[in-house]
Amino acid sequence: MICISNLSKRFGDRHVLRDITLSINAGETVALLGPSGGGKSTLLRCLNGLNTFDRGEIRIGDHLLSPANHRADLKAIRRFFGMVFQDFQLFPHLSVLGNVMEAPRRVLGWPRDRAEARAKALLDRVGMSGHLAAYPGQLSGGQKQRVAIARALAMEPRGLLCDEITSALDPEMKYEVLRVLEDLKRDGLTLVLVTHEIGFARRAADRVVVLCDGAIVEDGPPAEVLDRPRSERMRAFLQRVLV
Ligand SMILES: Nc1ncnc2c1ncn2[C@@H]1O[C@H](COP(=O)(O)OP(=O)(O)OP(=O)(O)O)[C@@H](O)[C@H]1O
Ligand SMILES: [Mg+2]
Repeated sequence: MICISNLSKRFGDRHVLRDITLSINAGETVALLGPSGGGKSTLLRCLNGLNTFDRGEIRIGDHLLSPANHRADLKAIRRFFGMVFQDFQLFPHLSVLGNVMEAPRRVLGWPRDRAEARAKALLDRVGMSGHLAAYPGQLSGGQKQRVAIARALAMEPRGLLCDEITSALDPEMKYEVLRVLEDLKRDGLTLVLVTHEIGFARRAADRVVVLCDGAIVEDGPPAEVLDRPRSERMRAFLQRVLV
């Protein structure tokens, strides 16, 4: 479903992604791990068209992103993936319900009733139906993140791109958010997750892909990559994160 071929990207003279080739199947959950600065966020942003790139191409379904036609299929590709960020990025001036209704109303032109019914159903699904009228400033981090997930789902994407969405949360709230992700996975949503939650990756991911210095150094089932890494870089990384 998603084919990344020979993707390369530089920021100035820094080579941030080096010839990345990676396929992700529909319904697959891929955990993206690796040391800080390795290119994980940049790769995720390329997948959503938030970053341009210099070489290679990304095919998502029938749509193509390449350096030459960055704009052509951008809209379709943005509809394909919802994105969730570490710092939530909710609209502070809108209620929980308003945050989730906003994109369907503005982008899809849905009437209020329809957008509201869908938003309520999604907020129920992430366990936030008791907070419809609250504003982001009144919520805990875990609650904000669950609203952000509902908001990303409101555009009916086929997949979610999640960039360290539990990193700013304390353990109990992490658990609530990870449980929502596991539920979405069971429903067949494609998930690409940058995460430092090794336990979660082991339990929920179908595949673990490790990026170091802009290159893929490992790609395989969690048990293989996490227990029997082939690369020295991954062994060193695991030693540091598993202390
Ligand atoms: N907008 C930018 N301009 C210049 N350099 C950038 C920009 N964004 C990222 N970089 C550089 O690209 C490299 C990869 O960054 P990226 O954010 O993708 O890493 P990461 O794997 O997500 O790291 P972390 O785990 O710390 O989030 C880093 O060296 C970073 O400094
Ligand atoms: Mg990052």
